[in-house]
Amino acid sequence: MASTILIAAMFFHLCSSTSALSVNDGFALRLIHRDSPHSPFYNHSMTTYDRRLAAARRSLSRLNHLHLRATLPQGASEFAPALIPDELEYVINVSIGTPPTKVYAFIDTGSDLVWVKGIPFFDPDKSFSYTTLPCNAEPCNDLGNDRTCKGQGSCTYRITYEDRSTTSGVLSKDKFTFEAPDKSSVDVGFVQFGYSNVSSREFTGKENGCVGLTDSSLSLINQLGIKKFSHCMTIPDDQVRGSLMYFGSRAVVYGSQTPIFQNLHGLYMVKLDGISLGDEEIPNGKAIMIDCGTSHTQLDPMVFQPLVDKMRQLVPKPMPIVSGFFELCFRGTFDDVRKLPNITFHFGGDAKVELIKETTFLKMGNDNVWCLALLRSKVWGFSVFGNIQMRNFWVGYDLERKVVSFQAAICAQF
Ligand SMILES: *[C@@H]1O[C@H](CO)[C@@H](O)[C@H](O)[C@H]1NC(C)=O
Ligand SMILES: *[C@@H]1O[C@H](CO)[C@@H](O)[C@H](O)[C@H]1NC(C)=O
Ligand SMILES: *[C@@H]1O[C@H](CO)[C@@H](O)[C@H](O)[C@H]1NC(C)=O
Ligand SMILES: *[C@@H]1O[C@H](CO)[C@@H](O)[C@H](O)[C@H]1NC(C)=O
Repeated sequence: MASTILIAAMFFHLCSSTSALSVNDGFALRLIHRDSPHSPFYNHSMTTYDRRLAAARRSLSRLNHLHLRATLPQGASEFAPALIPDELEYVINVSIGTPPTKVYAFIDTGSDLVWVKGIPFFDPDKSFSYTTLPCNAEPCNDLGNDRTCKGQGSCTYRITYEDRSTTSGVLSKDKFTFEAPDKSSVDVGFVQFGYSNVSSREFTGKENGCVGLTDSSLSLINQLGIKKFSHCMTIPDDQVRGSLMYFGSRAVVYGSQTPIFQNLHGLYMVKLDGISLGDEEIPNGKAIMIDCGTSHTQLDPMVFQPLVDKMRQLVPKPMPIVSGFFELCFRGTFDDVRKLPNITFHFGGDAKVELIKETTFLKMGNDNVWCLALLRSKVWGFSVFGNIQMRNFWVGYDLERKVVSFQAAICAQF
């Protein structure tokens, strides 16, 4: 009896020290782009052109949500208006419960909550370690207006999306395990998450969940006490090994740095001093959100218009707008792209990010049409820096020093 308890205690100690170790020493994850053939969302029937249009459409719709979220008054529920999840870009494998169930979750620097969908993706009845949080628990308060419970009982919520569809669920707690690039498992212990089992929209999207990474109470990083993380996204999307993300002490947070605005719901909002095309500067001085969940950077029309006007005079054989999204396209070769002057983003605090040519113009298909990968923001005075332009940079988020950093790298090497 005594020895059983001893063994159980030792076992418990081992498990808990492994998990503590992985979190404190940092851990790595592989990110899979949704359009990679290795992604559960890959659609064989889509052409490159279809994917380009879909990515542009997702970007525009996401900017609206992000802008709404960023302009919510202080103290408003951090969860409303929630973002529509199937617009996200990078997926990770997450295992939840005892025994573990594997789900796919999108990573999202624009949302707070960690949540997973119910059956058939995750069935709490099949996990011994699953519990729900009571309505009077502190984290339940953080749900603000989205909370639907009163008094005793479980912490239930209803999130209303911008298209008025809703998702209901229960704030829950269970063991989370991630998969390291060497396939070993990273046991991070218990994580609080929304278990969403009712939706007014069909559970059509194949996404199983979402991992919120804002600097706010219920996000994954805050729950794990992680103060920094970084990612390096490869070109092209379909790298077999995927892109890399580091959490904790392994995070790459050096290079050019720009301060994060405070009190903006934990979003990674910084200042865009301006951009330059070669030696020509186009000033801005407005807000730009750094968001890995948006694919295309979208620029305040105040900088976008002069940029397109100047660039149009430099490209060979400019074409009319392609499909309403891409405002500057031309027929040519990558050599023509390479000859154009570089575009540099000047962020607050003297951070400079010089875009590489592979992420400045995108090839639209097989007919040698190239389009500027930067889009016009539909909101005056507001820009988003998206993941296409983050490729081949370590983008670091340091929540202690309150900076976002950029360091050029060849991400496929890692
Ligand atoms: C995710 O899980 C799938 C299925 O088990 C596996 O094939 C894939 O390699 C995993 N991906 C990552 C990035 O760990
Ligand atoms: C896959 O792409 C094709 C072509 O765009 C589209 O018609 C089809 O609905 C897509 N399938 C799914 C499951 O999204
Ligand atoms: C959703 O989960 C809650 C809590 O487990 C439960 O009370 C409710 O009946 C579930 N709803 C559905 C439709 O499964
Ligand atoms: C443009 O950027 C590339 C790196 O992508 C760099 O090698 C090149 O020197 C830059 N050109 C100028 C004129 O700064």
